[in-house]
Amino acid sequence: MELATTLTSHTVWNAVREVGINPNYWYPVAWANELKPGEIMPIVIWQQAIAIYRDEESNLHALEDACPHKGVALHKGEVQGPNLVCPYHGWALNGDGKLVDIPYLPPNQKLPCTQARSYPIQEKYNIIWIFPGNPSLAENCYPPDVPEFTNPDWLMVPIPGHFQAHFSICNENTMDVFHGFLHKELQGWFDPVLISLRQGEGEVCADYQVSYRGLLTKFLGLSEQGNQVTTKTVSIQYRYPHYHSSLEGPRTSLPPWLELS
Ligand code: FES
Repeated sequence: MELATTLTSHTVWNAVREVGINPNYWYPVAWANELKPGEIMPIVIWQQAIAIYRDEESNLHALEDACPHKGVALHKGEVQGPNLVCPYHGWALNGDGKLVDIPYLPPNQKLPCTQARSYPIQEKYNIIWIFPGNPSLAENCYPPDVPEFTNPDWLMVPIPGHFQAHFSICNENTMDVFHGFLHKELQGWFDPVLISLRQGEGEVCADYQVSYRGLLTKFLGLSEQGNQVTTKTVSIQYRYPHYHSSLEGPRTSLPPWLELS
């Protein structure tokens, strides 16, 4: 459905700052190539501490970061075969969080019936995704499509960041093309005009016409010297809980003065 592009005042719903995430979605939590076989990484997603690890056969697992014995952080333990071993007494949990070994008990002794919570986890687009909600819903839910990732015409530039803010503020910041003033020294984008606004089921899409000048135009290959004004369309899509934006016609390789080593 097309919406009006006239900017008008509207009520700010501050209550959105008080709600948590909907856990029944796939969330990106780490770069996949930064977790090697045998390594463990602690992550926190909406106040849930999770230990993710890659077993020795490269399979990914995610367990609540608290040992079911005495609550010690599992990410401080070690990977042994397919299992995560707690650093305190050496209890071994498999990728489902099930207790499979207590090293100081005699062989064949029955193990206590306890386990850590496990989370659905997968790897896609060099990103590790976690489903922190009801595991039975994970199969029918998917990470967002990023077809550009495997398209050689697109350049992948990972930009890690840590934002000390409610997620709604982060989303608003990335969707807000009117804050070019903040970056005027570096990026030089200005005069944004909302040219199209559409609402679909569970998503909102907007196209802006934005003018560029300065270092960003040089970086994107829009201008040789960075001193010309170039006007392009920026398309933004927000499909809860993921945000996607693309700029019309940027370069497909890094400029020679910014080659990555
Ligand atoms: S606290 Fe983890 S094995 Fe004891």
